[in-house]
Amino acid sequence: MNKDFWKNKKVMLTGHTGFKGSWLSIWLQSAGARLLGYALDPPTDPNHFNLANVVNGMESVVGDIRDINSLKKTAQEFDPEIIIHFAAQPLVRLSYELPIETIETNVLGTAILLETVRSLKSARVVICITTDKCYENREWHWGYREIEPMGGHDLYSASKGSAELIISSYRRSFFPIDKYNEHGVAIASTRAGNVIGGGDWAQDRLIPDIMKTFIKNKPVIIRSPYAIRPWQHVIEPLNGYLILAEKLFEEGPKFAEGWNFGPTDEDAKPVSWIVDKLVSLWGQDAKWELDSNINPHEANYLKLDCSKANALLDWRPKTNLQTALEWIVEWYRDYQRGGDVRTITEKQIYRFEKL
Ligand SMILES: NC(=O)c1ccc[n+]([C@@H]2O[C@H](COP(=O)([O-])OP(=O)(O)OC[C@H]3O[C@@H](n4cnc5c(N)ncnc54)[C@H](O)[C@@H]3O)[C@@H](O)[C@H]2O)c1
Repeated sequence: MNKDFWKNKKVMLTGHTGFKGSWLSIWLQSAGARLLGYALDPPTDPNHFNLANVVNGMESVVGDIRDINSLKKTAQEFDPEIIIHFAAQPLVRLSYELPIETIETNVLGTAILLETVRSLKSARVVICITTDKCYENREWHWGYREIEPMGGHDLYSASKGSAELIISSYRRSFFPIDKYNEHGVAIASTRAGNVIGGGDWAQDRLIPDIMKTFIKNKPVIIRSPYAIRPWQHVIEPLNGYLILAEKLFEEGPKFAEGWNFGPTDEDAKPVSWIVDKLVSLWGQDAKWELDSNINPHEANYLKLDCSKANALLDWRPKTNLQTALEWIVEWYRDYQRGGDVRTITEKQIYRFEKL
């Protein structure tokens, strides 16, 4: 990303109190953007948003994405140029317990966000964050391309596939690419894989589960050791979103479509590989055991083809999985020792910028 571009830009983030949103807020604060966040309270305790005092460098509004009046009022008063939409119910397993809430937040919430954009004066760029799970997963060994059909076995995946259809429909109905000169808004969606990094405490996610149990000095229980996912440090797709936003701002409709941001093929690794690496990086008596319970269905094999982002955005991962795991252990070790969480996050962002 080009830091100069972001200086004084008016940026609205939904979901800024979450894992990805709080990392991006810190990054954009360091670039001098004028930031407004709209989200519910942080989804976990502890959380990166509070620990890193993210609220300090931005305007932060607590509000529900499903509340169209509240969202419209907040957005119209701020009048952003760039909107990045993270707010979601982001967990596969929770979607089995809360199917309707997942659909309301992820599908209706996205429609409400886009409806709100229609009422804004200065909006030029909208990026909606969906997921690699939006694709109909055929459990095959090829990476999914942006032209592949949407789908979803569990309701989280289906809600994100549905959100993609809504985004595409809003673009075609209200912000058509051939009428860009009239409306001036470029809308894109992004599909990243499993992102990992310090400051994530979400339930039933691999890295938070491992770090929480290591910190408590207990063995980690692993439910799907052979599942293969595209793992990537959270800074990588965030960098992709920022590069994409710059292109959408400067070149508009050419980039108004779906984009994959994922790791290289070598970093689509089985869960067991990750846990073994983390056990050895953490040291002490860290260990893992297999979960013998029957668990709900989750995709076993999923990876992305990122040729389009490589070729057209000149985006490619700068770190590999080994580095991501080292940064994660460094982050949680620092947190465990009572270190300043904001400093460690900023240090890792700075290190990434220098790569
Ligand atoms: N973390 C990953 O591995 C991953 C992978 C692919 C895609 N994503 C997507 O990235 C986005 C951010 O994920 P995350 O990991 O940071 O999740 P998170 O749970 O840490 O954060 C979710 C954010 O959404 C907000 N939110 C939830 N429901 C809301 C509602 N009804 N109204 C307003 N705000 C609401 C929360 O307050 C929080 O700020 C999500 O859209 C998720 O689907 C995440």
